[in-house]
Amino acid sequence: MKIAVVGTGYVGLVTGTCFAETGNQVTCVDIDSRKVEKLNKGKLTIYEPGLDVIFERNTKEGRLKFTTNLAEGIKEAQVIFLALPTPPGEDGSADLKYILGVANDLGPILENYTVIIDKSTVPVGTAEKVHERIAKNAKVEFDVVSNPEFLREGVAVEDFMKPDRVVIGTKSEKAKRVMEKLYAPLVRQGNPIIFMDERSAEMTKYAANAFLAMKITFMNEIANLCEKTNANVDDIRRGIGTDSRIGKRFLFAGIGYGGSCFPKDVQALEKTASDYDYDFKILKSVMKVNEKQKTKLMPHLKKYFNGDLKGKTIALWGLAFKPHTDDIREAPALYNIKELRKAGAKVVVYDPEAMENVREVVGKKVKYAKNPYEALQGADALMIMTEWPEFRTPDFEKMEGTLKNKVIFDGRNLYELKDMKELGYTYFSIGRETAKA
Ligand SMILES: NC(=O)c1ccc[n+]([C@@H]2O[C@H](COP(=O)([O-])OP(=O)(O)OC[C@H]3O[C@@H](n4cnc5c(N)ncnc54)[C@H](O)[C@@H]3O)[C@@H](O)[C@H]2O)c1
Repeated sequence: MKIAVVGTGYVGLVTGTCFAETGNQVTCVDIDSRKVEKLNKGKLTIYEPGLDVIFERNTKEGRLKFTTNLAEGIKEAQVIFLALPTPPGEDGSADLKYILGVANDLGPILENYTVIIDKSTVPVGTAEKVHERIAKNAKVEFDVVSNPEFLREGVAVEDFMKPDRVVIGTKSEKAKRVMEKLYAPLVRQGNPIIFMDERSAEMTKYAANAFLAMKITFMNEIANLCEKTNANVDDIRRGIGTDSRIGKRFLFAGIGYGGSCFPKDVQALEKTASDYDYDFKILKSVMKVNEKQKTKLMPHLKKYFNGDLKGKTIALWGLAFKPHTDDIREAPALYNIKELRKAGAKVVVYDPEAMENVREVVGKKVKYAKNPYEALQGADALMIMTEWPEFRTPDFEKMEGTLKNKVIFDGRNLYELKDMKELGYTYFSIGRETAKA
C-alpha cells in the first residue's frame, strides 16, 4: 500500500518505519526541514530501541522516504496518517491547530479516494472537524478514521509491530476494509482490531492514558501514606499486584508520571469533561497529586542539609521521563533541577540518552557528566530521577569517596533498604522507611 505519514516525531517516525517494514511504500512528511534533512542522510532524529535496524533496512531498500513537501508526500497515497502534535492549549484543552491546519491543506491536493487517519491523540469530535475542513475543498471521495496510538516510548517498535489491540473508529465500510488490510500483518497472532465509531475511538485513547495515570497516582498516594504509617509500599505492590483484577503493572511508586502524553491527556480529558458540564473529580485529584509528587524528595533533601542548599552540589542520575527514551517532555528531573537551582544548589547531571535534549532546554545552568560516576565527583548528594537499568546495580565501591556524603535520594526505589543500610548510606526513597547510616 502507498502510505503518507504527516508529522515525523516519536509516533510518526515509528509508524512510518514499521509500515515500511511490512512492505508498504511510505513517505513521511515533516515541516521541520532540519529533521527531514537528517533523516534523508540516514540519521535517526530520536532514540528508540530497535528503530535503527528497521530504519536503515527500509531507507536502503527504498520503501521509506522523507520530505517537507505535503503535496509531494501524499501523492498517490491510499492512506494518510496524521501524527501531529496536540499540545495543551492555555485552557488545558488539546490544541488542534496542527491537525486542522494540515486538514485545510489536504482538501485541494487529494487526487483519489483516500483514508485520512487521525493517529494523534485528539478530543472527541475531532474526526468530524477534520472531515469538515477537508470537505470544504476536496474534489474526491475520502474518509476520516480515528486510529489512536498506544505505543510506549522506549518499546515503541515492539508495541507497534505487536500491538495488544488496534482501535479503529469509523462508520465507513470502505475505510474499514483498507484499515483491516493495512494492519493485518501486525495482528497475525490474533490480537484484535476493535472497530467502533470515531468518537468512541477518540475517547478510548484518553480513557486508557487517564486510567494508567490514575493507577500510578493511586500507588503514589499509598506510598505517601506508607511513609506516615511505617509500612513498605514495595510489599503492598506485591501484595495487591498478584490479584489478577489489579495486575502487576503500573504499580511502582515514584516521583510521578511525566512525558508527552499522560500529563497533557489527563488535562485534556478533564477539559472535555468540563466542556460537557461534567465534574470529573478523580482526574482533578490525579493532576494535583502528581504535580506535588514530582518534587517530593526536595523537602527531605533540604532538611538533610539543615534547610540550606546554597553552594551544595547535587548529582542527578536520569533526566528522561522514563528509561529507554531521550524524551524529556514533562520529565520530573526538569522540575527538580528548577527547584534545586532556586534553592541555590549547583547541579551535575547524567543520563545515557537525554543529555542533548536537556542541554537545549537548560543550557549551561547545569553541568553535564560523561558517566554516572563523574557526576558524583565532589557532589554533596545523589538524586535518582529515572530508573535506567545501569543505575540499578552501580559499582558502590567505585562510588566510595566520590560523593562527599553517603546520602541518596531515590525517586524510583531502585535499591533494597537492607543493602543500603549495610553499605552505610542514608537512603531516602518513596513509600519506604528512610535507611539511616
Ligand atoms: N509520544 C508518544 O509516546 C505518543 C504515544 C501515543 C500517542 N501520541 C500522540 O501522537 C501525537 C504526536 O506525538 P509525538 O510524540 O510523535 O509528537 P512529536 O512532537 O514528537 O512529533 C510531531 C511532529 O509533527 C511535526 N509537525 C508539526 N506541524 C507539522 C505540519 N504542519 N506538517 C508536518 N509536520 C508537522 C513536528 O515537526 C514533529 O516532528 C500527539 O497527539 C501525541 O499525544 C504520542
